[in-house]
Amino acid sequence: MPEKPAVLFVCLGNICRSPLAEAAFRHACKEAGLDAIADSAGTAAYHVGEPPDPRSIAMAASKGIDIGHYRGRQIVRDDFTRFSHILAMDHSNLLNIESIRPNGASAHVGLLLDVIPARRGQEIGDPYYGGQEGFEIVWNDVAGAGKALVESLLEA
Ligand code: 4NP
Repeated sequence: MPEKPAVLFVCLGNICRSPLAEAAFRHACKEAGLDAIADSAGTAAYHVGEPPDPRSIAMAASKGIDIGHYRGRQIVRDDFTRFSHILAMDHSNLLNIESIRPNGASAHVGLLLDVIPARRGQEIGDPYYGGQEGFEIVWNDVAGAGKALVESLLEA
């Protein structure tokens, strides 16, 4: 079990949603002075080694955050002990994560939006096949969740 909060954000490709979730959480940690580890991963291997989608890079850049150096990776079994929290963007990702969860894994696994009581059970939808506006919706969701997560970690 990690000594400080260590949060892994997970989507399908690790190029659209989870890099933005990682960036928003890192930003919220900095603002609140919380010392935490953050990373992101995909359940699929399609985009391993690739930078985030240009629309995600543009979305983060519009908030003054550079994510151009992030690189896609696939979730691995070690993540279940390296991270205290593994948070999925949608139910499909959550099922895939649960399906590879090793016995005795210490990480809490759940949906990211569960950190906001009014949004429990809701998904952050895949923006890949839409336009830039979908990435703004994702940003608003992950920014709200990132803040709520920081608050809950500070209370813990
Ligand atoms: P993400 O979006 O899971 O938010 O990174 C997607 C990225 C790539 C694909 C699907 C969703 N794809 O099919 O390649």
